[in-house]
Amino acid sequence: MDISSNDRSAMMPNYSFPDLVPEKASGSRLWDENGKEYIDFGGGIAVTSLGHCHPVLMKSMEEQSKKLWHVSNYLLSKPAKELGQKIASKSFADKVLFSNSGNEANEAAIKLARKYFFEKGDEEKYEILSFTNSFHGRSLANITLGDSEFHQTGFGPLPKGFIKAGFNNIEDVKMKISNKTAAIIVELIQGEAGVISAQNDFIEALRNICNEYNILLIFDEVQSGIGRTGTLFAYQGYGVIPDILTLAKGLGGGLPIAATITTTDIAKCMQPGTHGSTFGGNPVSCAVASKLIDIVDDKKLLSGVMEKTIKFIDHLQNLSKKYDFFTDIRSAGLWIAADMKQATSKEFLSRSYEEGLLLVSANGESTLRFAPSLIISDQEIEEGFSKLEKVTKSFC
Ligand SMILES: Cc1ncc(COP(=O)(O)O)c(C=O)c1O
Repeated sequence: MDISSNDRSAMMPNYSFPDLVPEKASGSRLWDENGKEYIDFGGGIAVTSLGHCHPVLMKSMEEQSKKLWHVSNYLLSKPAKELGQKIASKSFADKVLFSNSGNEANEAAIKLARKYFFEKGDEEKYEILSFTNSFHGRSLANITLGDSEFHQTGFGPLPKGFIKAGFNNIEDVKMKISNKTAAIIVELIQGEAGVISAQNDFIEALRNICNEYNILLIFDEVQSGIGRTGTLFAYQGYGVIPDILTLAKGLGGGLPIAATITTTDIAKCMQPGTHGSTFGGNPVSCAVASKLIDIVDDKKLLSGVMEKTIKFIDHLQNLSKKYDFFTDIRSAGLWIAADMKQATSKEFLSRSYEEGLLLVSANGESTLRFAPSLIISDQEIEEGFSKLEKVTKSFC
């Protein structure tokens, strides 16, 4: 078989890859196989939180890879133990369960909530309530939690015990819960839907309802966690503590790692053998994630996130004024969505690649999403926006 770089015939058609073939990257710059340079405003969908090939993360990866790569979940490696302790010490949680993706972290959160009530003898308390426009991953349970008919179509029958209420609609939540409700899972900021923030009083009211009706509150921080919103965890900005929280994307900075975190009381239902993942807690991913947290959980870095956010918003507003291009611009820290008037995201992304700019879209026909490195430089921001202006102009 011809395996030239343009031959995609071996790939399943579930992704529509553009023609560019990425070859190497550094900071917020990436080069394709032809040496063409791109500015990365997408961050691999909010993952490369310290940019590409950060020297401290590279060093940690190299050192760990020379010592120990894999032990499976029969053994607990030092990097996994240390990362678990670090996450627990910096969050509300006492216990951490590692996996490899946001999907797995949420699946574990759902299982944890159900098992918690099962162990208490409350087997009828199994329903999980999620929200309109939410996204939690692509397993059967997670597409059922999510609110996309497209993601669900053709994959039925879907699992039972999942209900939905309106996002930011507390009256609807009150109507949908019952003594069967085990947990409410919510994205504090809905990323795939286009950076739509939950209102503070909505999250506070969810907490109160959960307390009153003995329901577990799960925050899906797969996209919002690890500095993206200007605090290490987005829940710290809301001042509301969940019972369970899930992390992935930005945690490994590009290496696959995820975590489901909770309290001692809730975790104790997960007895040996009840749940597991062969690759969960991979020593290399854990070593890198540990260093990444040290770097991100820093006052200067986090205030820099907010300064960079202002720069992005100013640039977008100026572009919008000049070309009458965006109908709405929303942000939650360095995580920004802009709805376009004149172009679909598909058209816009394709022109951006030509211009040497990497972006991501969000749900809907015409929403752009920006989730760059949390330490993107001023120079990279300026270069990226000059490319963005050229792309914008081409649609006007
Ligand atoms: C809020 C949220 N939860 C879960 C997921 C699924 O994560 P993964 O793609 O790592 O399985 C995503 C991915 O975009 C997400 O944004």
